[in-house]
Amino acid sequence: MEDSKKKILTKESYDRLEALKDEFPERKSVTLMALHVIYDQMGYLDEKAIEEAADYVGVSRVFLEEAATFYTMFPLKPVGKYLIQVCQNICCTLMGAEELTAYLSEKLGIKLGETTEDKMFTLVVVECLGACGGAPMMQINDKYYEYLTREKVDKILADLRAQA
Ligand code: FES
Repeated sequence: MEDSKKKILTKESYDRLEALKDEFPERKSVTLMALHVIYDQMGYLDEKAIEEAADYVGVSRVFLEEAATFYTMFPLKPVGKYLIQVCQNICCTLMGAEELTAYLSEKLGIKLGETTEDKMFTLVVVECLGACGGAPMMQINDKYYEYLTREKVDKILADLRAQA
């Protein structure tokens, strides 16, 4: 029988949430940091983990869930080892982001929102990432890649595969 009380967040995550409670007496101020704690542990924002974190820090579950859906930098479901977020806003689109997205999709063999079978890559498009001067650009996990071309995309993917 499944233990419905089994915790999803680890002791390390609870320790980090505890530290946030001390640091931010105004509970709502911990929102973004609490989402980071979940993301750092799981690689996405698990629904049950959001509930656990909300209960623990003392904010409403709805409040934390709303914040989770607002920040596109946090995936809401499991993703590949590398989350590829291609900017689709105006500057990047004008500089060829759409064509690059199609290229990535074809090269990886997945559609937008999907993950490769080997769980290495997930491909999504996002709004402006604030690096318009380097358009077209994409973010993979925490790193920005700018002035993209097909050749650069090939090298980036090859390097990431080699590192994995
Ligand atoms: Fe792509 Fe701003 S439009 S980073």
